[in-house]
Amino acid sequence: PENLIVLGIETSCDDTAAAVVTGNGKILSQIVSSQADLLSRYGGVAPKMAEEAHSLVIDQVVQQALDNSSLTGEDLSAVAVTIGPGLSLCLRVGVTKARSIAGRFNLPFIGVHHMEAHTLVARLVERDLQFPFLALLISGGHNLLILARDVGHYVQLGTTIDDAIGEAYDKTARWLGLDISKGGGPALEELAHEGDSNSVKFKIPMRQYKDCNFSYAGLKTQVRLAIESRHVCVDNNPILSASSHERKSRADIAASFQRVAVLHLEERCQRAIEWAKEMEPSIKCLVVSGGVASNQYVRSRLNYVVERNGISLVCPPPNLCTDNGVMVAWTGIEHFILGRFDPPPPAFDPEDYM
Ligand code: KG4
Ligand code: ZN
Repeated sequence: PENLIVLGIETSCDDTAAAVVTGNGKILSQIVSSQADLLSRYGGVAPKMAEEAHSLVIDQVVQQALDNSSLTGEDLSAVAVTIGPGLSLCLRVGVTKARSIAGRFNLPFIGVHHMEAHTLVARLVERDLQFPFLALLISGGHNLLILARDVGHYVQLGTTIDDAIGEAYDKTARWLGLDISKGGGPALEELAHEGDSNSVKFKIPMRQYKDCNFSYAGLKTQVRLAIESRHVCVDNNPILSASSHERKSRADIAASFQRVAVLHLEERCQRAIEWAKEMEPSIKCLVVSGGVASNQYVRSRLNYVVERNGISLVCPPPNLCTDNGVMVAWTGIEHFILGRFDPPPPAFDPEDYM
């Protein structure tokens, strides 16, 4: 496996990413081209626009990843690409590119599940991380608690019944008039430092349900009401032009939102650890991954939870938590080693003629 070299491509949402990774977990190159700036101007992911943005940069991103690794297509062992879940128009950009490279260089093709990639990248970061482990995956579109028993063998313990936590961060940031050109989550995390996290009394979601599911739609509504009742901003009222009193008011809401949003994660993780210990007594680790896992407050709070339970936390560095090509390449490697790949596609993909 040390000799394997896999190219990974990711286009499922708003980042166009590619990376080259070796079988022993060495990252030879990684490129991410983000559309966050574009999206902040248009207020969300419009599939057609996102597809065009991916198409515009995909060749360049992949070429740059190869160049930075000082390799060419001929040196690769396989090509891995995210095939879902995600926006199909966007996924297709990556898949078409991956197929064309695999076809041209006669390479095995590996289709990767985006959430599995967020999970397994933890095994690249922590090379002796063994199954089974528990994973909390928190991003813009997903909120999952899973028990990972082996590659390709996952038991879902909980999911969101409405929105994911990243969506709640993004909306709150927008409503508070933050500069979200680098993403709503990071902007909110920053403003929260200036606020009092106990100033607004938000209700912790789903307390009455003794399970591991999540809900963030209700918290979003509570935030909206708090903003309106305090006459803070809202839309089209950038924080930069707010008075210091108003800025503090917004920071209080940000900090209070963050405290409760993360408390919900803490409570669900506590229960999931108890469940997991019943199912797999040997469990030793909680993996936290996905874009929201790059948040320092989230990391430190979940650290308390694992310590209390005598297990350890594995949280990839921020650039491997948000969408990236490394996690896709690495998941490709995990599959490849187990013989789970497709034969090289035809060199002339019929899609080229459509
Ligand atoms: O995994 P990811 O890059 O893309 C999806 O698969 O959705 O996650 C993106 C989400 C966005 O909602 C973004 O606001 C959030 O992760 N995020 C954060 C932070 N950095 C990214 N949320 C809170 N705090 C952060 N520092
Ligand atoms: Zn993601």
